[in-house]
Amino acid sequence: MRKNLAVTVMVDSPCIPQEDPEFAKRGPSDSTEYNVIRALRWLGHRVRILGVGNDVAAIIAALTEQQPDVVFNLTEQFGDDRQKDSNIAALLEMMAVPFTGSGALGLTLCRSKALCKQLLVAHRLRVPGYAVLPPGAAALVPRSLKYPLVVKPLYEDGSDGIANASLVRSENELRERAAMVHERFQQPAIAEEYIEGRELYVSVLGNGRLTVLPPRELTFGNSDNGGPVMATYRLKWDKAYQEKWKIKFGFGDLEPSVDQQVARLCKKAYRLLQIRDYGRLDLRLTDNNMVYILEANPNPNIGRDDELAQSASKAGIGYAALISRIVRFALRRYGTVL
Ligand SMILES: Nc1ncnc2c1ncn2[C@@H]1O[C@H](COP(=O)(O)OP(=O)(O)O)[C@@H](O)[C@H]1O
Ligand SMILES: [Mg+2]
Repeated sequence: MRKNLAVTVMVDSPCIPQEDPEFAKRGPSDSTEYNVIRALRWLGHRVRILGVGNDVAAIIAALTEQQPDVVFNLTEQFGDDRQKDSNIAALLEMMAVPFTGSGALGLTLCRSKALCKQLLVAHRLRVPGYAVLPPGAAALVPRSLKYPLVVKPLYEDGSDGIANASLVRSENELRERAAMVHERFQQPAIAEEYIEGRELYVSVLGNGRLTVLPPRELTFGNSDNGGPVMATYRLKWDKAYQEKWKIKFGFGDLEPSVDQQVARLCKKAYRLLQIRDYGRLDLRLTDNNMVYILEANPNPNIGRDDELAQSASKAGIGYAALISRIVRFALRRYGTVL
């Protein structure tokens, strides 16, 4: 690949450190923005940073001035609104600027935890039974749904709004938790059947011919003694809590036949949901080897410590090579010969 591409890295404005707006210093190692920008510079590319706040005209002006060969899209929101991540992709599409990751369609299909399930079910992929609970209506679920249920905001990510209390065992608990979601997130809740099983994160790379990376597994060491059984917000982000409950993020060792089945289902879901360049499927694998897709993530976290980079590293793809591949996948989609 050409070494000196003009790459504009688009990031959410709040992620830009005031004292280092060009990400030139050695930043905190756990910041995805620092990780990606440093890798791109190491690869020899000319990197510009574009912070996205709530000003569309400013984005258009900056891109018109910068004329990048490609945008590395790390944005997750527009004007504090996560549901508008797809609008940023749509803007880049309208401006005909090549960019990494999923387009407006893929981001939209995966944004609603109900819409993506409808598509998966229609193509015979297994997902938990679910019901959507809109604000202002009685929190009722069909009798066919078996408790315990997991109650989540319909449109959020990163385990936002998911706590141990999201696992409800009665109609009363369901009503309470749904009301909490409505009030705090101003959006519908989704109630899903709780799937007991191993928790796997499967990352996929590419377009057309896809590469499924070695699965990561989250193990809940103390679930028999009242410990957490789900990747709640606290569990994901609080190291002391992880230690206290013997939570381990590692690799999932699967029997070859199960591994193949998982890979096949993940590729199918990735294609179906129009995910591009890189993505991650969150799964549960039951005792009798049934694979449930909990969630599909277009543009998943790609910091060095995140699941996707860990899986890539296990497959022998170092961090800079991973970032380089993502840029290459993106440019190929636009027909750029590298
Ligand atoms: N139906 C379910 N069955 C079992 N666990 C679930 C279910 N839904 C969510 N969880 C737990 O909650 C975590 C976060 O849920 P997920 O739907 O992936 O939301 P987010 O988009 O916030 O990551 C999952 O990784 C899993 O541990
Ligand atoms: Mg998830």
